Amino acid sequence: MSRSPIVLLTGASGVLGSALLPELVGCHVIALTHRTPVPGADEQLHGDLTAPRLGLNQAAYKQLAARVDAVVHCAAITGFSSGQEATHALNQAGTAQMARLVADADAVMYHVSTAFVARTDLTRAHQGHGSGEATARPEDYLDSKRAGEEAVRASGVPAVIIRPSVVIGDAATGAISAFQGMHGIIHGLLRGLLPLVPVPAHSPIDFVPQDVVASTIAALVREGRREGEVWITAGNNALTTERALQVIGDTADELGMDAARPRMVGPDIVDRLIRPVFIANLHPRTRRRFDDMLAMTALFADGRLFPTSLGQVPGAPAELNTSELEAALRMSVAYMARAKGMTRTPAPASTASESVQVPA
Ligand SMILES: NC(=O)c1ccc[n+]([C@@H]2O[C@H](COP(=O)([O-])OP(=O)(O)OC[C@H]3O[C@@H](n4cnc5c(N)ncnc54)[C@H](OP(=O)(O)O)[C@@H]3O)[C@@H](O)[C@H]2O)c1
Repeated sequence: MSRSPIVLLTGASGVLGSALLPELVGCHVIALTHRTPVPGADEQLHGDLTAPRLGLNQAAYKQLAARVDAVVHCAAITGFSSGQEATHALNQAGTAQMARLVADADAVMYHVSTAFVARTDLTRAHQGHGSGEATARPEDYLDSKRAGEEAVRASGVPAVIIRPSVVIGDAATGAISAFQGMHGIIHGLLRGLLPLVPVPAHSPIDFVPQDVVASTIAALVREGRREGEVWITAGNNALTTERALQVIGDTADELGMDAARPRMVGPDIVDRLIRPVFIANLHPRTRRRFDDMLAMTALFADGRLFPTSLGQVPGAPAELNTSELEAALRMSVAYMARAKGMTRTPAPASTASESVQVPA
């Protein structure tokens, strides 16, 4: 192909999409925007993946299908409290629509799923535990992401299924465009709101910096890969929960914050002893927050290690060792603490949005 490949990027305004956009050098990027404009793209096309033909009129859809060489599909509902219907409408039906466009365009699909599709058995719902007053339902998210993968496979289009673990900020700066998921837990730890973490000390906490995820996806597009599954995870080098909490605590100390060190407790002890005695009498909002944390952290308690494909994608980052993972976590903690004005050290030039979503 002599011209630059034309890449349609969905979810370009999101955490991953915004990190990926600058990595797609040499490509002509059309960002499919939804609510938020994406200034860095070569072109923007307003659409809605839950509407027929991606919310485009017939002519615009046909024109798009005639031009696109590759689709990088990042758009998704990533919050755990958005409801089953909305979550499936985008993550499953919206993904099926994207696969249809890929077929109509005779293109290749880079479908961003999640490593946690391998952990659906760990949700509290699956394990038969009550969810208390939680609004967070990771089972809806994980079911929708599995169904999204299935929709891609069933479509028969050439596709690479990409499975990142938890995405944290840039390895060098900690920068991230929104604080979700693990950042919500770190925020609670820094504020001293989490005296306990319901995850056994040895359980792996698998996270990857956003730049590693972005440059791996960009490398797959450059390589022109057309099939397979790519795990973007820490794999065997994932920190234990104990080590991750130590790194977070040490970083808080370095920043002059007085964050208490939480205790790690197995979820069974929380259910049997802690929730009925200590949590039941708290303010309803505190109870709900606790139950949301319980729902999210269930995905880590005694979790098996993920496979990793880092080091196996030409032109992409190598596998991350534990000191690189620790350094990246430190940067993410420091970035968030500064962005939220929790430390006296000055905030970096561009800070993430203030919204701490329910763990995603
Ligand atoms: N972040 C992580 O830790 C993580 C980990 C593993 C896998 N993943 C996967 O990586 C992908 C990207 O995640 P992310 O964290 O970057 O997501 P995010 O920050 O929550 O962003 C979601 C994106 O989807 C777009 N979107 C929402 N509804 C849409 C609709 N109806 N039509 C078109 N676009 C719509 C949003 O655009 P507007 O804001 O304009 O609505 C936004 O750009 C997802 O597939 C997620 O499952 C993420």
